[in-house]
Amino acid sequence: MKNTNKNINYSGTFPKYYDLINKGKDYDKEAEIIDSVIRKYSKKKSLKLADVGCGTGNHTIAFSRMGYRAYGFDVSRHMISIARGKSTGLHFECKSFEDVDEPFDVIVSLFDVVNALGPYKNLAGFFRSVAKNMKNDSIFIFDAWNGSAVFLHPPEIKTKAIEWKGLKIERKVIPKTDFLRQVCTLKYDIKAYKNGRLAEHVHPSLVINFFTYNEIVNALDDSGLKVVQAFPYKEPSKKIAENDWKINFVCKLR
Ligand SMILES: C[S@@+](CC[C@H](N)C(=O)[O-])C[C@H]1O[C@@H](n2cnc3c(N)ncnc32)[C@H](O)[C@@H]1O
Repeated sequence: MKNTNKNINYSGTFPKYYDLINKGKDYDKEAEIIDSVIRKYSKKKSLKLADVGCGTGNHTIAFSRMGYRAYGFDVSRHMISIARGKSTGLHFECKSFEDVDEPFDVIVSLFDVVNALGPYKNLAGFFRSVAKNMKNDSIFIFDAWNGSAVFLHPPEIKTKAIEWKGLKIERKVIPKTDFLRQVCTLKYDIKAYKNGRLAEHVHPSLVINFFTYNEIVNALDDSGLKVVQAFPYKEPSKKIAENDWKINFVCKLR
């Protein structure tokens, strides 16, 4: 099924501010943790990896530096154009994975990609597009918001001050959660000050569809995939619990 979601905002101002909004996220460290998990399941050298929903390419670049033959795919041409602007010679393609037809050893979808696909009906279609590009020994690793944690501990307003390219940035994120429909809208309020004066003030927003653990497992099952490991975000040695804010899933073909 084609991704029919019209709500996600990876065009307009959001891509421009994406790396700024996520400044402080340690992509290299996260890629190292994911690499340690991949190594548990594959001893092959020079693995061919697809980063699906690669956004501005930070994980793709990190995996490439670690020796993976890394390819980045994203449906947003704005995000892809930022990714292309960063890296030398890496393959970034503005394409839905449904339109990709080649086998990968590893497929990753990191930092809430499955929460950016739109409503639940889109989930199994996305997983099927992943499964069709996997071989028997391929693995698929993704992370997702954990619905039960959202119900138990709803997202709250967060503020952060950062320095960026000579600017002082104040970043506020205001979540509005619709528990019935399992949708959280994150409204960002970003103010950039230059020499103490307000230089820019933008309000990008992002729609997150969150799912429970069981919903995700069922969608995987419907798509021919099985979970071989699930762990709290970035903590592969631990077991998951209802309170874990985010879960990493490791999957193989069923
Ligand atoms: C929260 S961003 C994560 C980007 C990147 N993985 C990162 O870690 O910074 C979610 C990304 O998923 C992309 N996306 C949404 N639906 C997609 C789809 N069906 N196929 C591929 N990418 C998709 C969006 O364009 C966006 O760049």
